[in-house]
Amino acid sequence: MAALASRPCKALSGEIRVPGDKSISHRALMIGALAAGETVIRGLLEGDDVLRTAAALRLMGVEAERGSGGDWRVSGVGVGGLSEPDDVLDLGNSGTGARLLMGLVSTHPFAAHFTGDASLRRRPMARIAEPIRRMGAQVIAREGGRMPLCVIGAAEPMPITYDLPVASAQVKSAVLLGALNAPGESWVVESRPSRDHTELMLRHFGAELKIEELQGGGRAIALKGEPELVARPVIVPGDPSSAAFPAIAALIVPGSTVTIRNVGLNPLRAGIYRTLEEMGADIAFGDRRTEAGEPVADLTVRAGKLKGITVPASRAPSMIDEYPILAVAAACAEGETRMCGLAELRVKESDRLAAIADGLTRAGARVSIEGDDLIVQGGGRAPKGGAAVETRMDHRIAMSFLVLGMAAADGMAIDDDGHIGTSFPGFVGLMNGLGARIAAKDA
Ligand code: S3P
Repeated sequence: MAALASRPCKALSGEIRVPGDKSISHRALMIGALAAGETVIRGLLEGDDVLRTAAALRLMGVEAERGSGGDWRVSGVGVGGLSEPDDVLDLGNSGTGARLLMGLVSTHPFAAHFTGDASLRRRPMARIAEPIRRMGAQVIAREGGRMPLCVIGAAEPMPITYDLPVASAQVKSAVLLGALNAPGESWVVESRPSRDHTELMLRHFGAELKIEELQGGGRAIALKGEPELVARPVIVPGDPSSAAFPAIAALIVPGSTVTIRNVGLNPLRAGIYRTLEEMGADIAFGDRRTEAGEPVADLTVRAGKLKGITVPASRAPSMIDEYPILAVAAACAEGETRMCGLAELRVKESDRLAAIADGLTRAGARVSIEGDDLIVQGGGRAPKGGAAVETRMDHRIAMSFLVLGMAAADGMAIDDDGHIGTSFPGFVGLMNGLGARIAAKDA
């Protein structure tokens, strides 16, 4: 853990790749673990969150190792083939790892104990306990459904139909992964579609899924239980959430041009890029292609004036992790940006609504929270900065304020860089390679 300072820098330039997609990486390991045969994964994110998922799967009898060339090899145990872990599954900072694995073990007849770091132990898990109990699992948790907790998987799992009470890909995925080892057909209904990497990857490995578009924009997803999953190669695209940091840095540091190669642009993940274009951002999408069922492109981003807009609540699921860095862009834009419907931000790695408002206020920006909306008054250029921000065990808060420091006249500092590696190992080196000036605070 170290405090970092980000000092104002000259125009950024260069060509980079960001690490592999975190959501897809977790799913490739988990679904590979249930397939017959060996799954080879190229481009897996080797951040702490994903490494914790690999370690948890190993504790349940799966071989998952990095080969000498950097590809990962997972020897699957077949659907329903996990074995009882002889130690606690510690998912560190990772909500995705914890929640998807709770779903996965809920239809295996053994007890699995889960814990995580102080941030993860504060996060709500009742949203997973609810549907997996309906499948027949027992969950014994701390008050509020929090970790440490124990899942005792169902010996005779039942298929369910579950209407998602929150637009959450994690809850949807937990149900689908649990339903793999239940007989018959399980349904998940979502009124606002969330990222569909689980559905795409399950199909890639041979599962039978039906996806129905509902009136009003929702979706109903049916999975036929007890499929034979067969190992398949997986190529993980660059993470669009990680790419948003260098992209927005390039937009707000005058004179910059940065190309980010191989960015995943699944339409249910790419809301940030649509929003930035509405704000007037100059982003070119080159060489659009599809890799392993996921759309990918090379992004070239040029600095320029941004204007404030209203971001509708309906777009939140497609950019839920990008609000901290979008708020930084909004603080540099001309006029008001209103980001609507952000209740879920309160239960991320930190209370992100509070963390964003606090950090931007300290930097000299005008920010308010009205109900679940975040409102940022941009001044047409970066706020003055010159403040230190508490990162609250939250990688995205840390990276967002380092990016702000690159454009703020007096720079910015963060108190703790310790969590950046959960999703974006090498962030500081990559940004400095483009021209940023991020270094130890007292250096
Ligand atoms: C994720 C889903 C999102 C997101 C998280 C990753 C996933 O959470 O915030 O970083 O991989 O399914 P919710 O589904 O709970 O909104």
